[in-house]
Amino acid sequence: MVTRPQSASVPGAEASRRAEGWRPDSWRFYPGLQMPDYPDKGALAEVETKLASYPPLVFAGEARRLKAELARVAKGEAFLLQGGDCAESFDEHSADNIRDFFRVFLQMAVVMTFAGGSPVVKVGRIAGQFAKPRSADTETVDGVTLPSYRGDIVNDIAFTEAARVPDPRRQIEAYRQSAATLNLLRAFANGGYANLENAHQWMLGFVKDSPQSSRYQELADRITQALDFMRACGINPQSHPEMRTTDFFTSHEALLLGYEQAMTRVDSTSGDWYDTSGHLLWIGDRTRQADHAHVEFFRGIRNPIGIKCGPSLSGEGLIRLLDILQPDNEAGRITLICRFGADKVGEHLPGLIRAVEKEGRAVVWSCDPMHGNTIKAASGYKTRPFERIQSEIRSFFDIHAAEGTFAGGVHLEMTGKNVTECTGGARAISDEDLRDRYHTYCDPRLNAEQAIETAFLVAELLKRERLARGRPQVVAAE
Ligand code: PEP
Ligand code: CO
Repeated sequence: MVTRPQSASVPGAEASRRAEGWRPDSWRFYPGLQMPDYPDKGALAEVETKLASYPPLVFAGEARRLKAELARVAKGEAFLLQGGDCAESFDEHSADNIRDFFRVFLQMAVVMTFAGGSPVVKVGRIAGQFAKPRSADTETVDGVTLPSYRGDIVNDIAFTEAARVPDPRRQIEAYRQSAATLNLLRAFANGGYANLENAHQWMLGFVKDSPQSSRYQELADRITQALDFMRACGINPQSHPEMRTTDFFTSHEALLLGYEQAMTRVDSTSGDWYDTSGHLLWIGDRTRQADHAHVEFFRGIRNPIGIKCGPSLSGEGLIRLLDILQPDNEAGRITLICRFGADKVGEHLPGLIRAVEKEGRAVVWSCDPMHGNTIKAASGYKTRPFERIQSEIRSFFDIHAAEGTFAGGVHLEMTGKNVTECTGGARAISDEDLRDRYHTYCDPRLNAEQAIETAFLVAELLKRERLARGRPQVVAAE
């Protein structure tokens, strides 16, 4: 593990430092994991100063709006769809990639909105998802050992000594790319592309081409009928602007704290601090220690935040984190992104739910069925079997139903492209197929079809939940 050089952590000093108050740079007094040790400190300081003078990427008011929507998710009145690349890359930055992702994401949202009869809050892992935690500090290939790739914001994926040196100037490129991506996403979301009828037509195209189209046809037909009915009543994208546009938010793992600090600004309306690098930021499973740098940084920003919850988190540990990160129990502030694995979710999730319920905490429960289900295939590729992904999602819903709580969202690594990174799905991608189009910079992602198939599964589970709760079926115009 890489530990950022900083003042020694004196045992017992945590409480008194916390009492001293938070500042955007107070995390520097705590041990920080998974951050690079930059050889050129002068260049790093220059980059951080420059970034701090750049315009914000998102506005505090937008982050507050997302928080309000997530508060509805916490109450079971809406559902969260969060997804995108494991790691964005500089080389794959193109309008086509962004468009294809957005298109698939909207199709998923249509299916889930209809089935759940409630709004879907759309949050991309995009426009800032560049820094990666790694399980090992080094990587060995053919007897050569080099520092691990830590995401394009830190170093280069090429397997050479020079490429793997952390270069602070990459942070400027990550900012620039995030700004360009966000600009296009805003145009797509507000400029007519996100029109509900477009998304519906794309989804029908998916159903027609799917080898398992009969499984999806009934729900697709019902959405078509609902839209026909709305059109007949004069409710269409021309007369109703809300059918032409959509709210779309951005998120990433706020791992590289120097960058995040530089993007953290005081909101002139509220006087509060917001990290303006994205709407929602999350803390990774490897960096959520209560007395470490990441938790210190997150406690002072007012954005909605996520906490990755893996098998090593106890109920007690979670409540301690909530005491620090959500002292006022504000609904919408915390999304718990659970990533246990299909075989472990039954063992770990109920205990966390009970701990949260006992304390009366308002949280969003979201299921990341990706990170606990990664295996190494016989071919040597890192992959995720689609059946395991589906199984974890099903268990997540079953456990919440049994505990009387809401399955509030899903968190997916996905792309709009036709890659071959996760095995299975309607086209039964096999281990041998993985080499065809294995393009990810980090973890294996669902391809476009697997992502939409997942949305149909979630739709089925949402419908079941809605029926169990006895909520009337409504047709939401979103
Ligand atoms: C990720 O979301 O890409 C990730 C690294 O997740 P986790 O922190 O849950 O391992
Ligand atoms: Co990942």
